[in-house]
Amino acid sequence: MRIGLLTGGGDVPGLNAVIRAVVKHGTSTYGHTVVGFRNGWRGVVDGDVQDLTRRDIRNVLAVGGTMLGTARFHPHASDGGLDAVRATLEAEKIEALICVGGDGTMHAAHKVAESGIKIVGIPKTIDNDVWGTDTSIGFDTAVTVATEAVDRIHTTAESHNRVMIVEVMGRHAGWIAVHAGIAGGAELVLTPEVPFDIEAIEKFLKHRHRAHASFSIIVVAEGAVPAEGTAMEYTTQVGKFGEIIAGAVGERLKQEIERRTGFDTRVTVLGHVQRGGTPTATDRILGSRFGVAAVDALSEGKSSVMTALRGEDVVLVPMEELAGRAKPVPEDLLRVASVLA
Ligand code: F6P
Repeated sequence: MRIGLLTGGGDVPGLNAVIRAVVKHGTSTYGHTVVGFRNGWRGVVDGDVQDLTRRDIRNVLAVGGTMLGTARFHPHASDGGLDAVRATLEAEKIEALICVGGDGTMHAAHKVAESGIKIVGIPKTIDNDVWGTDTSIGFDTAVTVATEAVDRIHTTAESHNRVMIVEVMGRHAGWIAVHAGIAGGAELVLTPEVPFDIEAIEKFLKHRHRAHASFSIIVVAEGAVPAEGTAMEYTTQVGKFGEIIAGAVGERLKQEIERRTGFDTRVTVLGHVQRGGTPTATDRILGSRFGVAAVDALSEGKSSVMTALRGEDVVLVPMEELAGRAKPVPEDLLRVASVLA
């Protein structure tokens, strides 16, 4: 079988582990041919293709990013995009596609699968909000980086008696904020799931600094917003693809906290540091497992499914079940973050 492989959407550490696993398992176990499309769906539309052999994937396992490149591009959302995809797949004699991405890539994959090509998706996003899987590639690395940042900020916060705001990624879900907040011992964790009340934050900080501490750490997800009807004006600012303009909520919170409490406050926006660099062992293993499972699925004739982790097992989830669904942080986890304030 001639398999096409692409990585779409924002990059994450662990993508090269997937590419390596697909090439090794696909070529050695089944005798398939694997080709890669450059820069996600953009490369399929443009016919930008490269051979992928065992030689090409040497020494990529521990390297962050994606050796294929990626782009925020959705063929179904651009004029003639799906026709161009079909034309390239035909010209390149691609019989099956493996698409590694977040919900946008999965949605595009499902649309392309409707025209008859076999497709298996693999979930990746540091935000960890793809529905149907316990976790996605890249999340563990992002949490590790964010936790280290919170640890480092702790010591300088204490030395200077400051309120330190750490803004982490997470557009629609606060997974990184909650995990790094709990692991790093933050006083407050603000997420998109639970809109915040600035007056309650003010009260909490004043009480804490009067009663038993001279510093506080607030971890805020970039998609966090004030609750409707509360005393802070702020609307999330997003770019063309719904990506959030980094730093906006952190800066806005800093102004409000300083104005209301008089406490010296600083903001650290972790931004793309969370997405770059070496993948953790967990992300390398997850990427490898998903890559092997995707090749097995296609070799068994399966299609329109996404690999997913459920407990200890890798399973296949029908792509049609993903439509319009996201995975917010569950209440029990949010509660752990809030009771440990
Ligand atoms: O979707 C993953 C993500 O890392 C979000 O957390 C963030 O809002 C967005 O990507 C940033 O996108 P870009 O790299 O295009 O600025």
